[in-house]
This record gives sequence, C-alpha cells and structure tokens, in this order.
Amino acid sequence: MQVNRKALVVYYSRSGTTSRLADVLAGMLPADCEPIRERAGPARREGVRGFARSIADVVWRRRVELEPSWFDVSRYEIVVIGTPVWANCACAPVATWLAEHARQLRHVAFFCSEGSHGSEKAFTQMSQLARISPVATCAVSARDLHTMRDYALLNAFAAKVRRRLAALETIEWTL
Ligand SMILES: Cc1cc2nc3c(=O)[nH]c(=O)nc-3n(C[C@H](O)[C@H](O)[C@H](O)COP(=O)(O)O)c2cc1C
Repeated sequence: MQVNRKALVVYYSRSGTTSRLADVLAGMLPADCEPIRERAGPARREGVRGFARSIADVVWRRRVELEPSWFDVSRYEIVVIGTPVWANCACAPVATWLAEHARQLRHVAFFCSEGSHGSEKAFTQMSQLARISPVATCAVSARDLHTMRDYALLNAFAAKVRRRLAALETIEWTL
C-alpha cells in the first residue's frame, strides 16, 4: 500500500553500500524507498565479468532493462536518487531510470557512494538526464564510511531536503 509521503528515495546498489545509505536516508526524511532492479537480475553485475560489463555500460552509455517501479513517482514532491559512482558516472541502472522517469520528476536530490572520486561528474550527468537541478547533493566516499562521517553527511543532506519540502508546502498554502 502506498503511504501518503512527500519524498521517495530511489537507488541502485551493486554491493550494498548505496543501499545502506538509502535506508538511513529514508528513515531520516522520512520517505518511501525502493531499489532500482534490473530485469536481468543482480547476477549480471557479479564477479569480474559483471564489473567489466558495468564499466562498459557506462562508457558506452548503454541503457539497461529495468523492472517497473513499485511507487508512482509522479506523486512525490521530491525524489531522492542514489547511485554508486561507476567510472566517474552514475551507474547504468540509475542513468536508465532517470532517462525513463525525467518527465515525472518535480524536484530531485542526488546522493552517491564512491571509492574516492567522480561524484561531481556523476551529479552533473544525473541533472542532465533528469533535466532539472538537484535541491541538494551528497557524496559519501569509502573514507567517509571508515571515519564514520557518513551519518553526519546524510543528516545534513536530509535536513536540506526537508527544508525544501517545508518551503514547497508553504508555497502550496499561499497559492
Ligand atoms: C564498475 C565500477 C566502477 C567504479 N568506478 C568508480 C569510480 O570511478 N570512482 C570511485 O571513487 N569509485 C568507483 N567504484 C567504487 C564504487 O563507487 C563504490 O565502491 C560504491 O560505494 C559501491 O556502491 P554499492 O555497494 O552500492 O554498489 C566503482 C565500482 C564499480 C563496481
């Protein structure tokens, strides 16, 4: 059943890091939350072959086949989209999801998990695909995870998203 919430967190995760960040964020906002799922299943991304395929997908800007969304994206004021950084880009499932849902998005915020670099380029690419600028962005690196800075980064990011939601609500009332 769809709960009447104003924010939705949508993410892809190959090895679990972005998924953990998404769960924390969904609790902080609060927001509905759903993973982006490839029709081919997670096995396509596993091992050395899966890693090489993932790099090739972003380098060649390949679109992938996705399962339908659980939630009606157009019902949310803000959709928060999370990706792991792949070769300085958003991962192929997130790039595909953005291209497919761009017209349904009112406001967006982006977060990513990365080894060490590439988030800025990934966020630029995501804005281009969504055809709107994000209200906030948040990059969490492996170092942030090891030094336990991730929670503070997510907290600041969630606060920005909540502020924007509150501002949108005020505008709604005054119209
Ligand atoms: C195919 C592939 C490409 C990657 N490219 C980058 C990169 O360009 N920069 C970087 O900092 N990390 C890179 N990484 C590391 C991931 O971004 C990082 O481990 C991330 O936290 C993984 O998220 P996940 O566990 O949600 O899949 C790459 C990982 C994979 C699998």
